[in-house]
Amino acid sequence: MLYTTLPGTDLHVSSLCLGTADFGSTIDESTAFRMLDSFLDSGGNFIDTAKIYADWLPGERSISEKTIGRWLRQSSKRHRIILATKGAHPHLETMLTPRLSRAEILSDLDASLRHLGVEVIDLYWLHRDDPNRPVAEILETLNEAVRQGKIRAFGCSNWRVERIRAALETALAHRLVPFIADQMFWNLALVDPRTMGDSTLVAMDEPLRRYHNETGLAAIPYSSQANGFFNKMARGQVDALNPLHRQMYLHAENLARFQRADQLCRETGLSITQVVLGYLLSQPFPTVPIIGPRTLEQLADSLSAAEIRLTPEQIRTLEQGASRELPLEL
Ligand SMILES: NC(=O)c1ccc[n+]([C@@H]2O[C@H](COP(=O)([O-])OP(=O)(O)OC[C@H]3O[C@@H](n4cnc5c(N)ncnc54)[C@H](OP(=O)(O)O)[C@@H]3O)[C@@H](O)[C@H]2O)c1
Repeated sequence: MLYTTLPGTDLHVSSLCLGTADFGSTIDESTAFRMLDSFLDSGGNFIDTAKIYADWLPGERSISEKTIGRWLRQSSKRHRIILATKGAHPHLETMLTPRLSRAEILSDLDASLRHLGVEVIDLYWLHRDDPNRPVAEILETLNEAVRQGKIRAFGCSNWRVERIRAALETALAHRLVPFIADQMFWNLALVDPRTMGDSTLVAMDEPLRRYHNETGLAAIPYSSQANGFFNKMARGQVDALNPLHRQMYLHAENLARFQRADQLCRETGLSITQVVLGYLLSQPFPTVPIIGPRTLEQLADSLSAAEIRLTPEQIRTLEQGASRELPLEL
């Protein structure tokens, strides 16, 4: 395992972060506990959850945070992990109504602390933005939470580049603690955000990438394995993609990207998972992909990429190299 210190913090995190959106729901608690233990045994220490996970299913609310809370109590491993969670997500039935008032942010944060059973959250994410709310007000609220000792650092998820820029400039001008990282949708595939089925998600694009490059702001991408698109292509199991993922990934440019990734696997002996995660791990600014394994086998496979680094030339080829003369239809 390799580690990196997120710039502007003392958060020393493993090169891969474990995503836990389905822990305690579609991934049952005992499997989730084994995955958490196995991640730590492999040197992983960075864990991502959210207050909203997995409230889209019937049953108990905030089941992922509560599952992690139970594991922390049972395992006594709190001191070994960098714990990240998210709040200020819209209610699921009113996704276009933002929830970033001071009261909403602070009450979500208190609920997360209770669910997790911890005194402090290492990295607190705003799960969405409210472009109509001044960034200064949002930053003041988060700075208050830092002063109160409830969070050690904070970042934004699904914010557009102009709002991130405004937030960092405002923090500098007002001597406030700034966002120290950005969590966005990003992977080797090329995805039209209009196909993602949720207009409040923000995908990495060229202006955002340029901004990360210029500022060195850390990127913590989610859906880093393109929801299994490349693995399914490699296994000839593209039929296993659900309708949303077919709509997002199944087009000519991504078939070409798969061909180039597959070619790189043949040339280097790397696995498709290593090439897909290696693509993110080799960016010129700090990038810590969130992995989303469903099984212990997938976890082990994804962790095999932790120390893979591709060359800038290999990255360029994956993005825009010529494709082999293969039919692009499936
Ligand atoms: N900030 C946000 O708004 C946001 C949004 C989404 C997710 N997240 C975070 O990111 C995490 C992961 O996101 P995600 O599930 O969307 O993305 P992902 O990791 O790209 O996709 C997960 C899927 O990829 C497949 N997969 C994963 N590892 C594999 C492996 N080693 N071999 C073969 N297939 C593999 C599995 O598909 P099958 O199940 O088909 O096998 C798995 O269900 C979440 O748990 C959450 O923590 C954050």
